[in-house]
Amino acid sequence: MKFFVDTADVDAIRELNDLGMVDGVTTNPSLIKKSGRDILEVTKEICDIVSGPVSAEVTAVDADKMIEEGRKLAEIAENIAVKVPLTWDGLKACKVLSDEGKMVNVTLCFSANQALLAAKAGATFISPFIGRLDDLNLDGLELIADIREIYDNYGFETNILAASIRSANHMSECAKIGADVATAPPGVIKAMANHVLTDKGLDQFLKDIADAGIKIV
Ligand code: E4P
Repeated sequence: MKFFVDTADVDAIRELNDLGMVDGVTTNPSLIKKSGRDILEVTKEICDIVSGPVSAEVTAVDADKMIEEGRKLAEIAENIAVKVPLTWDGLKACKVLSDEGKMVNVTLCFSANQALLAAKAGATFISPFIGRLDDLNLDGLELIADIREIYDNYGFETNILAASIRSANHMSECAKIGADVATAPPGVIKAMANHVLTDKGLDQFLKDIADAGIKIV
């Protein structure tokens, strides 16, 4: 399973990239806003650090404007994947941009049928939102499994990019199901290294027990 980092924080991307943990990056307007930087500038910097796909999201809601915006974003670097929402207009934009040879990430996917439509429209990536489904008391991981089954039934080449990941457990479950990619915030990727005995990591665990005067024999 490929790891994308779900952030616009270039220092965090650099740190994980140096460890070989970054196969790509996903950004969205809220993440860019959080970075406090200009969208084109920060996206270009990320594309220079990472060789894999870097998703940059359109903000328009109608197809023609999404296409125009997507073309501009794609000019930033060769590894840009234009991110469009899963709406009927987003699917139209996906078809046009993917026919032009651009990578397209169809985001905000909440059902297997939506994933089927995105694959038919030529999406390079489909982003089902696990965490937000879990928030609604639904099962985000079940959606990943359903899409995997459907795509495998028909040999669709669209990559399942599990998104809205909230925990290290989501990462291992996605890997078991066979998601092609999982995009997670840097903190979640780091939490994958935590020892089962503690959520603070093994070093802190050993320090805590030493501080408490407990000796391991
Ligand atoms: C990534 O492409 C998505 O924008 C992101 O994973 C959404 O995560 P959230 O549901 O935590 O906002």
